[in-house]
Amino acid sequence: MLLDRESECREVDDLLEAGRRGRGGALVISGVGGVGKTALLDYALDQSADYVSVRTAGVETETHISFSALSDLLRPLLDHIDELPVRQSGALCGALGLSAPEDSDPLTLCCSVLGLLERAAVTHPVLAVIDDAHLIDARSAETLRFVARRLKDHRIVTLFAARDGEDTRLGEGGIRRLPLEGLGPEAARELLCASVDTPSPTVVTSLIRAAGGNPLALSEYATRVSHDRLRGAEPMDAPPAPGPRITEYFSRGARRLPEDSRWALVVAAASDADEPGMALEEFEQLGIASSAFDAAEAEGLVRVDGTRLEWCHPLVAAAVYHEATSSERRAAHRTIAEARAIAEADEVRCPPKQALHLAVAGLEPDEEVAHVLERAAGDALHSGAIPAAVGLGEVAARLTPDDGNRARRLVEAAEAAALVGRRPLAERLLEDAASISDQRTRLEAARIRKSLSEELLASVTELTVQELKVARLVAQGATNREAGEALFLSARTIEFHLGHIYRKLGLRSRTELARSFASKAPEPADSPPSRRS
Ligand SMILES: Nc1ncnc2c1ncn2[C@@H]1O[C@H](COP(=O)(O)OP(=O)(O)O)[C@@H](O)[C@H]1O
Ligand SMILES: [Mg+2]
Repeated sequence: MLLDRESECREVDDLLEAGRRGRGGALVISGVGGVGKTALLDYALDQSADYVSVRTAGVETETHISFSALSDLLRPLLDHIDELPVRQSGALCGALGLSAPEDSDPLTLCCSVLGLLERAAVTHPVLAVIDDAHLIDARSAETLRFVARRLKDHRIVTLFAARDGEDTRLGEGGIRRLPLEGLGPEAARELLCASVDTPSPTVVTSLIRAAGGNPLALSEYATRVSHDRLRGAEPMDAPPAPGPRITEYFSRGARRLPEDSRWALVVAAASDADEPGMALEEFEQLGIASSAFDAAEAEGLVRVDGTRLEWCHPLVAAAVYHEATSSERRAAHRTIAEARAIAEADEVRCPPKQALHLAVAGLEPDEEVAHVLERAAGDALHSGAIPAAVGLGEVAARLTPDDGNRARRLVEAAEAAALVGRRPLAERLLEDAASISDQRTRLEAARIRKSLSEELLASVTELTVQELKVARLVAQGATNREAGEALFLSARTIEFHLGHIYRKLGLRSRTELARSFASKAPEPADSPPSRRS
């Protein structure tokens, strides 16, 4: 069933109805790969049972064979060839390889094709469908264009489907176009969520945006993205990897680019998939001159709007990114992270969003990288961006060369994972931590695991790890100063956290906190040193 194509179907219905009444016509259905052109042609064929239908589709390997498309299209109608004037039937037979080629003029041939369709339309109206018209041979294209412009007094309808951005030679000459856009959000959601009960609204929105409403991309996502990712329990790649057909359609243009232009696109795709436009100035900071995008703009892959770069279709970004090799992707993320890192007095800091680039870029254990990631995870945690903190913390741990530090970071990441309900990940991280022979870490891991199994986290999942620690200490009777000392924080910061805790848990006083918390909350790990010692 076609979703969200009411007006397009109506346009096809009207054309078919007019054809029945001897007021035929033609339509070029255009749009990007996977947008639903063939599906709309199929709809037309379904609606035209009273028509004689003939169809063909252009194929890349036959583009250079003159009249190959016309030959396929007209084969079912060749019984009528003897009804044509001799000159026309001779020209047609010659062109279609049914007799020795004739040196006839193009006009005779065009008239013979129109004449053949007319003869066939005497008993029933005729529908001629030409899919992938951007790939048909030039001689078929010019003949069919001639025919398509002369149908208004005939019971003949011609429908073409052609991909945007390709030269179809059908655009000129006044044939009506029906451009197809992506599906609207409701229909897109229906396609994407066909098999998932409770998809995460954020994930759904980001996938619909990544697909630009493209139905093929959406159905590929629906089958390829795991249920856990669709539910938001596992993080998504950014941009999410499209399926093979979409990758093929949308990376084609990039393959034709010179190497520096393609690299510029890989960096652009890696940089910020969610941003509507990227400032050219920022690319210059990444060592990419704005002229590197000229060739991509000429290919119709990106648009430069004043000082900003925009993708012509979001799937170009996803396809270019995932067609690149994994080492190119890592190099692109490293370039971005390094350019955006902030050098402070004696260390490098990375805002959490940029540190995510470092996380994707990193492969080898490296304490310096791990430390930057840990700091960023801490920042993310404090700002309430716990899912980001989980990802950053996990990578920080994995990239830590030293066993003791790695175990501690694994436990911290587990704690954050538990807080956002990613229990399998938390368990896995704790197991990894426990496998590192460090007595203190093993104890902490055991304690967190116990709290996970008590299913008490549900009531406090609103709290950040830091808030959980503050709440626990204050509930045990600690003053703000004592809690601050235990957590290396100022008393004012404790007060600030307490404000959040009260609001999130709907409490008003320390006494209420003590009462409620003592009965519900899990024991957090004894604050492991949250900074590098
Ligand atoms: N309006 C729609 N509603 C639901 N599915 C659609 C719709 N349009 C296309 N599809 C599905 O999307 C996929 C791609 O469509 P297709 O017509 O092959 O794209 P195109 O010919 O433009 O490359 C097909 O599986 C098709 O069934
Ligand atoms: Mg198609």
